[in-house]
Amino acid sequence: SVGRHHDHMGNEIDEQPAVAQRVLDILSPGIDGGTLWRGLGLPPLDRIDRIAVLGCGTSLHAGRAVAGVFERLGHMPTRAVTASEAAHEVWEPRTLVVALSQSGETADVLRALDTVPADRGTVLALTNNPSSSLARRAHAVIDCLAGPEIGVAATKTFVAQIVTGACVALSGLAVSARRDVAAFDADLLALGAIPETLSAALDAWHNRAKRLAADLATASGFLFLGRGSGLVYAAEGALKLKELSYRWAEHQPAGELKHGPLALVDAGTPVFVVDDGDPRLDVDIAEVRARGGRVLRIGERTLRVGGMPLHLPRRGPSWGPLETVVPLQMFARELALRLHRDVDKPRNLAKSVTVS
Ligand code: M6R
Repeated sequence: SVGRHHDHMGNEIDEQPAVAQRVLDILSPGIDGGTLWRGLGLPPLDRIDRIAVLGCGTSLHAGRAVAGVFERLGHMPTRAVTASEAAHEVWEPRTLVVALSQSGETADVLRALDTVPADRGTVLALTNNPSSSLARRAHAVIDCLAGPEIGVAATKTFVAQIVTGACVALSGLAVSARRDVAAFDADLLALGAIPETLSAALDAWHNRAKRLAADLATASGFLFLGRGSGLVYAAEGALKLKELSYRWAEHQPAGELKHGPLALVDAGTPVFVVDDGDPRLDVDIAEVRARGGRVLRIGERTLRVGGMPLHLPRRGPSWGPLETVVPLQMFARELALRLHRDVDKPRNLAKSVTVS
């Protein structure tokens, strides 16, 4: 991709606001009246009892964020299925299986779909490749519209999957009796603001990510904490860091700290905290600081857009604080560059994993 960086990953991170805008321009008009949902040929949401999101790695994280929309706005039971672990999964009737795969060729995902009985689940594919094997296997397909992603680390496709998935979910909920009306309306506003919040995060972290990487270059391990809708972004931050820098990184629900992981925290241990606005995080942070840990809180609720403060609502959107992924991606890339890693082609990994 063409841009200001020498590597694809840096340019793909920068492209994220534009990708989100493209998805919104094309899909958001179909939310009202449920036309996007109906156009995909999906059964009305009131004839679906539960949602299962299915995928691997970053795509599974995106799926969890999308599941949050059905759960929080539609009060629907949801679960996330790790595709490589689906062999003994019990599929209940009237399940909507949302299968997410950037490439659409991930063997684990295709195999997992083999375990879904034909009369049990409708399969909706969210993919960046609408002519892929996954797209052929699904009942309904939606293109995530991210454009080609060259870097092995998924960045703009993650954002595209979440924005696409949120549009589809909101469209299904728009005509459903399950819909929580006030939360739905708040989410519609938040959806439109995604490109701005991503841009603001890019601007805010441009120099900060590099400085932080210089500071933390010798750290051997990193913790990523979150609660609720912030947790998937903590998971994604840890995955990016491992994949790119080859340093150990672990994510945990912040409330689990005291049940074991707190023993890892020592003087200077870097602990990223994804802030989704949950006030309990203040207590979690105090626990880490009391052990000398270095807290890096991501996701200020006030961002600046064009010099003006943009106040985000205390209750964040149902897909969580998406903009927090930007500094986490930038930090992982900067640390990897500093350690002379190939950020576009991390060791031992392939862009499309066609073996299971
Ligand atoms: O093509 P897919 O979205 O199915 O790929 C799934 C994972 O292999 C992929 O997201 C992987 O975790 C990324 N390299 C992470 O950056």
